[in-house]
Amino acid sequence: MPLVNMKDMLDHAHANGYAVGAFDLVSLDFLDAILRGAESRRAPVILSLAESHFAYFNFQTLMPAVVAAARHSTVPVAIHLDHGASLDSAVQAINLGCNGIMVDSSSAPLEENIRLTRKIVTMARGCGIPVEGELGYVPGVEGEDAERHPGEMAYTTVDEARRYVAETGVDFLAVSIGTVHGRMRGKPELDFQRLAQINQALGIPLVIHGGTGLSDDQFRQLIDNGVAKINYYTALADAAGRVIAANASREARGYTALVAGIGDTIQAEVERCIDLWGSADRADAVLEKARPWRAVEHVIIYNVEGLDEAGTHAMMAEGRRVLSAIPGVLEVVTAEALKEDAAYRYSWLVRFCHPAVVDSYRDHPDHMAFADQHFRPVAGERISIDYQDVEDSSS
Ligand code: 13P
Repeated sequence: MPLVNMKDMLDHAHANGYAVGAFDLVSLDFLDAILRGAESRRAPVILSLAESHFAYFNFQTLMPAVVAAARHSTVPVAIHLDHGASLDSAVQAINLGCNGIMVDSSSAPLEENIRLTRKIVTMARGCGIPVEGELGYVPGVEGEDAERHPGEMAYTTVDEARRYVAETGVDFLAVSIGTVHGRMRGKPELDFQRLAQINQALGIPLVIHGGTGLSDDQFRQLIDNGVAKINYYTALADAAGRVIAANASREARGYTALVAGIGDTIQAEVERCIDLWGSADRADAVLEKARPWRAVEHVIIYNVEGLDEAGTHAMMAEGRRVLSAIPGVLEVVTAEALKEDAAYRYSWLVRFCHPAVVDSYRDHPDHMAFADQHFRPVAGERISIDYQDVEDSSS
C-alpha cells in the first residue's frame, strides 16, 4: 500500500537533488494516466487536487477513487490538496483522504498569511499531516490563460520566508520567483539567485507552482536550488484538449470517441516530466525511507443502559454527525451485534488518518462534549482499543 508520508517523500527528493511531480487531476482519465506514467518510470508521485478546480468535479465523489488508486499503486504516492483556501477545506480534504495540504493565503498581507497558515498547521499537526505554505504571489489560474487573471506578481523575499516558516511551522514552501499559473505569453524569467538564497536560508523542500511553459534548463536550475516538488497541470490539460480537438476534426461522435486517446497523451507528458525532473527510478529508495501512511482504527464495543433501541440509534446518529467532522476522522461506523446475546451489543469504528489523531480526537471539544453528554452516561460497560492498519506492502 504505497501511500506514504509526503514529508518523507519530499525530504528524500530535496536531499537527493530531484523533484517529485505534483500533477493536478480533474477526472478519472487524469488519475489513471498520472499513475500509469509514475508506474512506468518507477517514480514517486503526488496526486494533486486543486480547490480552484472543484467546479469541474465533485471532490467528495472523486476522492474515494483517488485513495483506492493510490493504495493499489506499486510506486510511492501522496495525495495533496492544492491551493486550499480555508481551514474548513483543509479539514474536509484530510477527512476525505488527503495526506498533504497546501494553505494558500498568499494573496493576503504577510501578518494575515501567517495567522491563517498557523491555524491550519496546528490542525494538520494533530492529524500528522504535512503542510505546504506559499509566500509571495504566483498569479494566474492553473489551466487558464495567465494573462486573463493578471494579479500582481509578488516575489518571495528571503527575510519574509525565514519569518513565515519559523512562525507558521510549514513543512514545505511554495515560492514566487517569476513563474505564473497557466499559459504564459512570452518566456518566463526566473530569479535563480533569489531561489538559491531562500534555499540556503530555509533548508526545507521548496515548491514551484506554474510548472507549465518552463524550459528544460530552467527546471534543472530550479531543482539544483532546492525545488523538490513541481506543480504541473496546464500542459496536461492542453495536451488532452488537442487530442479531443483532433478527434472532433475527424468527426468523432459521442463522448467516448471524443476523449479516446487522452490518457496516453497525458501519460506521455507525465513521463517526460518525470524523466526531466530526475524522479524516475526513485520509487524503491523512497519506499525504503518513507513511512507508510497507515490509518488507525479506534474501536469501541459497548453495552447501553438507560436508553431504549430508538434512543440508542439516535445517540449513534448524533455521534456519526459530530465525530465525522473532527479533523483526521476518515469514517465513523456504528453497528449492533447480529446476535442479541453477544457479550457486547454495540460497536463504534472510528477510522483516523494517522496515529496522531488518537490524542487530538480525544481532546477535541466536540468529541469531549459528545462523549460526556451522550455516550459515557449510557455506556459504562465498554472496551476501547486503537489498532493500526496492517497491510501487506506487496499487495
Ligand atoms: P500550471 O498549470 O502552470 O502547470 O501550474 C500548476 C500549478 O501550479 C498548480 O498548483
